[in-house]
Amino acid sequence: MHLLVLGANGLLGSNVVRVGLEKGWTVSGTYHSTPPDFDIPLFELDIVDSSTASEIIESEDPDWIVNCAAMTDVDGCEEHPDRAHDVNAQAPGEIAAHCSQGDYEFLHVSTDYVFDGKSTASYSEDDSVNPVQVYGQSKLDGEKAVRDGLSDALITRLSFVYGVHRGTDELTGFPAWVRDQLQTDSEVPLFTDQYITPSRAGHTASKLLELIEAEASGTFNVACRSCVSPYEFGAAICDQMDVATSLLVEGKQSDIERPATRPSHTCLDVTKTQDQLGRRQPTLTEDLTAISDWIAPTDR
Ligand SMILES: NC(=O)c1ccc[n+]([C@@H]2O[C@H](COP(=O)([O-])OP(=O)(O)OC[C@H]3O[C@@H](n4cnc5c(N)ncnc54)[C@H](OP(=O)(O)O)[C@@H]3O)[C@@H](O)[C@H]2O)c1
Repeated sequence: MHLLVLGANGLLGSNVVRVGLEKGWTVSGTYHSTPPDFDIPLFELDIVDSSTASEIIESEDPDWIVNCAAMTDVDGCEEHPDRAHDVNAQAPGEIAAHCSQGDYEFLHVSTDYVFDGKSTASYSEDDSVNPVQVYGQSKLDGEKAVRDGLSDALITRLSFVYGVHRGTDELTGFPAWVRDQLQTDSEVPLFTDQYITPSRAGHTASKLLELIEAEASGTFNVACRSCVSPYEFGAAICDQMDVATSLLVEGKQSDIERPATRPSHTCLDVTKTQDQLGRRQPTLTEDLTAISDWIAPTDR
């Protein structure tokens, strides 16, 4: 199996590279601004440059292309909607069309932010989409463009990605920030009115490659099976660090002003993925335990 990972220096992309190598697969990758520290063939690529993307695909001739590259800054997308559309929608669509012509398989990564978050039930793959900000709209347009380009593409929706970056070996995202605040005895303001099913990058990468091995196509939710608020996520991190929750401060989304609206409840129903792969998705606690070496403070 030969994987070409687009966005190999992102949090998810670095984990896909790592899991692919652990499986003994041939892995090559592209990066945007900074090359990751992997001993694999790496190519600089802005994915909106479709002719360079096509050249890399032809020269590498992979079995599967995994697109982890995206404009993920939700507020940045709100401020630069044309760029968000180009990176998150148009470019993946063009790559999918190239895959269709060249007989390559394509896995495209999407988001829970395709939903408006007005339901309090977890979203299944078939639920109605209705993004409430430019980022979600650009990712939804990307899903459609990918399906138009390659009807049997594999599309995975994730939620609140965090974990260990496998290029730097550092904890990245929300738990790193909470850990750092707690280690300096600083208060941690956390929302109690937003619900998500956090996707740990390492486990998610494993599941993506299992879906590839299963030759799955269509849309799959890949997340943990715990639907939690950021406050509850913070409390689970305190538990992992064996510290009290006294520095956690309950907050509301309306406490801060941000350019982009966030949906309130985008927990993903992972039943379809569990049925496809024959195994339960982890709980949040199981996921945090898997990276406890990075979460637990070293100076205690
Ligand atoms: N982060 C989340 O909470 C979350 C939630 C749900 C779904 N997702 C989805 O999961 C996927 C992976 O996200 P992630 O968390 O791993 O994000 P990430 O760490 O920000 O990685 C995104 C990667 O895309 C690259 N990139 C940005 N613009 C590019 C361009 N024009 N051409 C080529 N590469 C470009 C970035 O490179 P540079 O940094 O060098 O620009 C970065 O390496 C994305 O599809 C995202 O939409 C993320």
